[in-house]
Amino acid sequence: MSHDVTWSHVDLNAVPCIKVPPPGPKSVEWHGRASQYMKGYSSQVRLFPVAFESGHGVTLTDVDGNVYLDFSSGIYVTSLGHCHPKISEAVAQAAKTLMNCHDFTTPIKARLLEKLVSILPGDLGGVQLYDSGTTAVEAGLRICRAANHPNLEFISFHKDFHGKTLGAVSLARLDPTQGLRAPGFFLAPRAFCYRCAFDKCYPECDLYCLKYIDTIIKEETAGRVAAIVLEPIQGWAGSTVPPDGYMQALRQFCTDRGILLFADEVLTCMARTGKMFCVDHWNVVPDVLTLGKGLGNGFPVTAMCVSDKYKDQVEKISASTSYGGNPMACAAALASIEVIEEENLVERSAHLGNLLMARMEQMKAAHPLIGDVRGKGCLLAIELVKDRATKEPAEKEGALVYQKAFAKGLAWIPAGNVLRLSPPLIMEDDVALKCMDIIEESIAEVEREAGYA
Ligand SMILES: Cc1ncc(COP(=O)(O)O)c(C=O)c1O
Repeated sequence: MSHDVTWSHVDLNAVPCIKVPPPGPKSVEWHGRASQYMKGYSSQVRLFPVAFESGHGVTLTDVDGNVYLDFSSGIYVTSLGHCHPKISEAVAQAAKTLMNCHDFTTPIKARLLEKLVSILPGDLGGVQLYDSGTTAVEAGLRICRAANHPNLEFISFHKDFHGKTLGAVSLARLDPTQGLRAPGFFLAPRAFCYRCAFDKCYPECDLYCLKYIDTIIKEETAGRVAAIVLEPIQGWAGSTVPPDGYMQALRQFCTDRGILLFADEVLTCMARTGKMFCVDHWNVVPDVLTLGKGLGNGFPVTAMCVSDKYKDQVEKISASTSYGGNPMACAAALASIEVIEEENLVERSAHLGNLLMARMEQMKAAHPLIGDVRGKGCLLAIELVKDRATKEPAEKEGALVYQKAFAKGLAWIPAGNVLRLSPPLIMEDDVALKCMDIIEESIAEVEREAGYA
């Protein structure tokens, strides 16, 4: 499948280019200066503390001049490549014209809202703009409570991730420092067939994990569930895709019980999974949908979208923020949507996903360390296990593969024993396959060193 890549074309004879073993001296210096003050780094940075200077298309350059291929898209954000000329220009224009004016209307905001609603699924016709995924999720929780009054409770799923504010963390697994889950939040086992919580097999299970939510409602909640919240495909947990029929059955489950369905697509939206929105894979229309990450291709702009049925309730939730949806944010989001359409990136994402999935299947056949490969579009993952029969997670090996590949020039994302792949949607086929070569080489090295091969 062809794609006009003139501005971001990569010469594989020249890239990746590691001139100084990373992290090089300048990375060490800059990161040392910053990390005296800032301590809360992701595992991505802790395991490989380079300092980046610039990004162009699918490459990143560190302060020592090393050039990396980007298989992370800045943690699922810069899906259209770093500094896409159209998006940079749109943001620059807005920055020179009007940066912020609270939540007053601007023409660019009106144009973005019209465009967004024209592409959103079903009757999602209410949109509120924010500046982080977490704030959009919090607004989503508030609208669910307002729209489904007097119901206040939420059910979410094991290993979903929805952000780091107190409401959002209550939707997910808590780490010990977070203390208590807020009252009214309950977790259900996720439909994740590789590691089924009930040790059942699909399709014979007849979606038992979905039916089990009735037990949770009856035994754990007060029977006042406002919404079921989920990532349609999990990101942080490693691209876990629900089995066929699950999302449609979940939609029906919610409708039958007067529960709202809240799909958190902060990570999966804007063509990341090979559809504009992930729920489009199943033609499911949630009542509430959150968008982020790829929406502004690096500019912080996110959205909480709600069904026309509940749109007027948004007035009740004190929904405005200081700079959510400012002119720069709207310019970035509008330009990003236009780029996705003009460059056919929904189709491109699906194409690249198929190409990479075929390669991952070959790798799985060749490498005992690989237990599972999965995902959709450009949201993919490789799960490493010590033993395919026991599925014991190979955590240390995951970190080693990540570090080895990074040192060879691949900027990407670890998550314990799950290697997460998130290529920019504009990546050329041969470049994407080169990234897989680097990953496979690194897996083979770890297997040899740890005696797997
Ligand atoms: C599904 C999902 N929801 C919410 C968030 C939080 O977004 P942010 O980091 O922009 O606050 C994330 C971030 O990774 C996410 O993946």
